[in-house]
Amino acid sequence: MNHRIKTLSNYIHHYEKSIQDPEAFWGEIASIFQWKKPWKKILSWNFEGPDIKWFDGAQLNITENIFERLLPTHAEKTAILWEPNNPNDKSQKITYQELFHLTCQFSNVLESHGVKKGDRVIIYMPMIPEAAIAMLACARVGAIHSVVFAGFSATALADRINDCKAKMVLTADGNYRGAKNIPVKAVVDEALEKAPSVKKVIVCQRTGETVIMIPDRDIWWHDVMEGQSNQHAAVSMDAEDSLFILYTSGSTGKPKGVVHSTAGYMVYTYYSFLNVFQYNPTDIYWCTADIGWITGHSYIIYGPLLAGATSVMFEGVPTYPHPGRFWEIIDKFKINQFYTAPTAIRALQAYGLDPITPYSLASLTVIGSVGEPINEEAWHWYHTNIGKGKCPLVDTWWQTETGGIMISPLAGITPNKPAHASLPLPGIQPVIVDAEGNELKGNNVEGNLCIAFPWPSIIRTTYGDHKRCKETYFSTYPGMYFTGDGAKRDHDGYFRILGRVDDVINVSGHRMGTAEVENAINEHPKVIESAVVGYPHDIKGQGIYAFVICESSDDIAKLSEEIKDTVRKIIGPIAKPDVVQIVPGLPKTRSGKIMRRILRKVASQDLSNMGDTSTLLNPEVVEEIIKGAQKN
Ligand code: WTA
Repeated sequence: MNHRIKTLSNYIHHYEKSIQDPEAFWGEIASIFQWKKPWKKILSWNFEGPDIKWFDGAQLNITENIFERLLPTHAEKTAILWEPNNPNDKSQKITYQELFHLTCQFSNVLESHGVKKGDRVIIYMPMIPEAAIAMLACARVGAIHSVVFAGFSATALADRINDCKAKMVLTADGNYRGAKNIPVKAVVDEALEKAPSVKKVIVCQRTGETVIMIPDRDIWWHDVMEGQSNQHAAVSMDAEDSLFILYTSGSTGKPKGVVHSTAGYMVYTYYSFLNVFQYNPTDIYWCTADIGWITGHSYIIYGPLLAGATSVMFEGVPTYPHPGRFWEIIDKFKINQFYTAPTAIRALQAYGLDPITPYSLASLTVIGSVGEPINEEAWHWYHTNIGKGKCPLVDTWWQTETGGIMISPLAGITPNKPAHASLPLPGIQPVIVDAEGNELKGNNVEGNLCIAFPWPSIIRTTYGDHKRCKETYFSTYPGMYFTGDGAKRDHDGYFRILGRVDDVINVSGHRMGTAEVENAINEHPKVIESAVVGYPHDIKGQGIYAFVICESSDDIAKLSEEIKDTVRKIIGPIAKPDVVQIVPGLPKTRSGKIMRRILRKVASQDLSNMGDTSTLLNPEVVEEIIKGAQKN
């Protein structure tokens, strides 16, 4: 069976096969890869543990499947096409051969500085080719990388380093983001005051600004690369050895380290990339995500490179130096597949059509969306003005925990239906359940989205705390993986994702746990208690609204700003509340639980029906909160 799907009937056939005999289905796809040792069993699993093993007994290295496997045919092909923040600076083309050599050199660097199989290495870097090289080199030596988005604060970075007890941090002097130059090395220095496990920091020179280099700890990337051999024998990894940890927010507590393993992740990111985007060998593909998020991992680096694609990596932001930058880059590189987030689409939509007019966008064949539900208006704007009405739009639903795209149209194959993620990929068995966990069969149903059967890139554990993995994903509805999302299956059997049903808010496509933001707010010395909810926001999808009880409320404006700033410092700018309302109390039930339903209504200015407030301990506080509600 050729694993490239070409028609709708082909899709149906592949899907059926993947359900009837998952092992045969995935075994056939996996057979194209280079294995150092064959597998003994394709799949063994239970969701009670959870304990999931794909291709158990096999040995491999994922980078051998990018390089050694592809070099005979791809040596001269561009692997990474890098566009700098400033359009007047030179872009860079890195061929598969060059990327291989750089990866080998950096693998030698890592090993010569004591990094061994299983060690954790933090990558806190700008969107520069060295970030990709860093990830690949970690994978090559068997180290577990944990990329931390370079916009997170020193505290957030230290928390992640401490959770996985990383030995090394890879960073840069600075990070160009539009007109800004963020001093990332200084953030690392601050974080390391609270993170003693790190023994070495390798600093890539990007902006050239002065940084403090601590003797014996900090070394320059260009210094250590010098003289390193461009050959390196890849370390053999077991199929189930961890490839990376990526921290993500949940309903409770601190962000958790989602762990992905090697073989299953490799097979699934490759397969889903090829089929969702219908990538052809001469295409130029661009995903605008940051490597700090799962989308960057799976669909800038691993999926495209495993498929031998040319993957564009962009350092900057969509509006710098002008709001037509994305469209300029599409024409410059003749991009075929373009993959971005609804928040970017809505932000650019706000500039009108003028920024698009100078560009033809004629090279585009597929456009994609990821990270949050795409509203119909944004869907049509994107489809009409960027896709020129001719490009299929793939609305891809998935999560950090799923590793790869789960529900999505296959470009040009699945009929497009605005704002619908549509149909599951082969191997994916979504079910919709009611609050009690009863499966809602048939069409025209709405409920909580679960997945009934393992797929190769499913989360294996949460780092250092397997119980938390079980409780978060496998306990709400025993026997199923629970996504945390609500979904509807319409009359045609197409899925529409309705958004989170838990206390996670999605701000500009970034996941934030309300508890995490509350904990940060509570660090402000004047704060007694807080409650955070999401509300609909035109550009960001959801905004962050914080209700805060303070010791004194003398200068409310000043206090609100201070609270916002506290969150920015503790987590990072992406978590800064849009609105802070100082309140005399929070609506609580007799058991002391905050009734968030009411706060959500106030935050979204939907005061029509407050529902039943009779169980509240302090119903009078609701009136006061409504009176003081902020416009947003
Ligand atoms: C949301 C990003 C609707 C969803 C890959 C999910 C989406 C969370 C879509 C995961 C989509 C992602 N339509 N909602 N196409 N894609 N989401 O872990 O709520 O950063 O649970 O992974 O984003 O966010 P994460």
